[in-house]
Amino acid sequence: MTLVALSDVTKSVRLADDSELEILRGISLEVSAGDHVSIVGRSGSGKSTLLNILGMLDAPTAGSVSFEDREVRRMRSGRLDRLRGDNVGFVFQQFNLLPGRTALDNVMMPLGHARGRMFWNRKQIAADMLERVGLGHRIEQVADRLSGGEQQRVAIARALVRRPVLILADEPTGALDIDTGASVMSLLDQVATETDAALVTITHDLHVAARARRHYRLDAGVLETADLSRAFEASTLAASVPSAASADSGASAPATVPAMPAMPSSRRGAVS
Ligand SMILES: Nc1ncnc2c1ncn2[C@@H]1O[C@H](COP(=O)(O)OP(=O)(O)OP(=O)(O)O)[C@@H](O)[C@H]1O
Ligand SMILES: [Mg+2]
Repeated sequence: MTLVALSDVTKSVRLADDSELEILRGISLEVSAGDHVSIVGRSGSGKSTLLNILGMLDAPTAGSVSFEDREVRRMRSGRLDRLRGDNVGFVFQQFNLLPGRTALDNVMMPLGHARGRMFWNRKQIAADMLERVGLGHRIEQVADRLSGGEQQRVAIARALVRRPVLILADEPTGALDIDTGASVMSLLDQVATETDAALVTITHDLHVAARARRHYRLDAGVLETADLSRAFEASTLAASVPSAASADSGASAPATVPAMPAMPSSRRGAVS
């Protein structure tokens, strides 16, 4: 079943000098239950704008967005807020946790808007979710005292605690080291699979993108399917050029750059 469908969506904003910036141009995309979609693209290409429209946090300038075949534009804001709260889980790159509040408080927050059992049992449900992300022993810890990887896991627990059918992750590994990033992605994959949720991941990291089943690239506001194997090749080539140049010119390499590891495969593919 199609969960969310964008049809010919554009997004423009008027800038301070009265000119118009076209951020998204004619985007059509359907995401179904159980889908895992990745979107890569340069900084400023419109990825976060697109994710916010998919998650009904932002409205397009033109085109249509529908959720489970219902046109979002026609909904009143209260109904839209409920639809989003009941169905969509956001993972933001910068975590966006409530500072000064515990991990448990942060994860309980979305359940404050839930109904019935989810509302009355919110403390236990939040604690179970924190256990699920490996933080059962840190539930009373104040969020800003946790490490970056732990904060991201709290943010994931908060995004997933209401079992959303649509999980939207905006560079979920952007602030994490490689190993922590990989475990965070496995966790998102697992929970999405368990609940047959759709997962849309925005990333600069080709290894993260490769975990998805469908791959897209956003280029200056235009969405196209991405060929990840070609992107990997291009990133390997790009990675090998500066190291060859610095070996030739010797003195031009900054003193703080460590020697290249023997195995260049340890480099991460990245979208430039
Ligand atoms: N409300 C706004 N007003 C003016 N410009 C905006 C607004 N929202 C987004 N933009 C601009 O639109 C472009 C796309 O922004 P967006 O945040 O979607 O990019 P992105 O692909 O997520 O970038 P990054 O990878 O750096 O997060 C940027 O140039 C941004 O400055
Ligand atoms: Mg962004």
